[in-house]
Amino acid sequence: MPERIDNWWWQDFATLGSTNDKAIELSSNPPAPFFVVTAAEQTKGRGRRGREWQGYSGNLFMSLALPIATQDWGQLVFVVSLSLLETIKFFEEGAQVCLKWPNDVLLNDCKISGILLEKGSGEYIIIGIGVNLTAAPQKLEAVLYRATSLAAEGINVNRIDFLCAYLKHFTKNVSLWKTEGFVKIQQLWQHNAKGLNEEITVNMPKEQKKGIFRGIDENGLLRLEHSGMIEKISAGDVFYKE
Ligand code: BTN
Repeated sequence: MPERIDNWWWQDFATLGSTNDKAIELSSNPPAPFFVVTAAEQTKGRGRRGREWQGYSGNLFMSLALPIATQDWGQLVFVVSLSLLETIKFFEEGAQVCLKWPNDVLLNDCKISGILLEKGSGEYIIIGIGVNLTAAPQKLEAVLYRATSLAAEGINVNRIDFLCAYLKHFTKNVSLWKTEGFVKIQQLWQHNAKGLNEEITVNMPKEQKKGIFRGIDENGLLRLEHSGMIEKISAGDVFYKE
């Protein structure tokens, strides 16, 4: 049965193939302007670039749906990841959590979550988020970066408590974004970003670039300083100096 969490219509399923698929389906006839779908078990979870997202029970699988103008989608992912960081800190104030471009959240230097933005019906964007609450992926080839879970780092939270806290932080940050513009989100994201003003390597499909990480621009592109200039990068995997 659907329920409400603050301004959000919410439905939890025992099992789904992918919460993103369910949210995309619902967006053709939205049950409310803002809605969220969760599943206790996800059997066909998708990750970025066609990767699989493993569905350990106890972890959180959620898809948020809301109408956002297409030109703002590039900025949205920073609102999503910043809200994840704040939610983890809400449960454990001193947690060593930071952000990795473009959309990873690291806890004790290991990946704790995954974000997959997909198009829904009309202007609906589907924000698929997986949070490793109790277990991290074991298949090493499936993860580019070491992964962990909140439980393994001593933070015990159940998926519904995490969902409720996340929706509060996300809603607050969306309104910050709308009232103060992306510059505020950009500042907060950069403040929590790993490796700001340090040397990084960016692996792109056909090349690798090294340089100094100078944050993100107004569209969320990575600013890499090298050869006396700033290059803006739209896609790639970031690696830090050991
Ligand atoms: C990544 O590759 O890092 C993104 C992973 C996104 C996984 C989440 S789990 C909930 C939602 N449903 C899906 O099928 N994928 C996303």
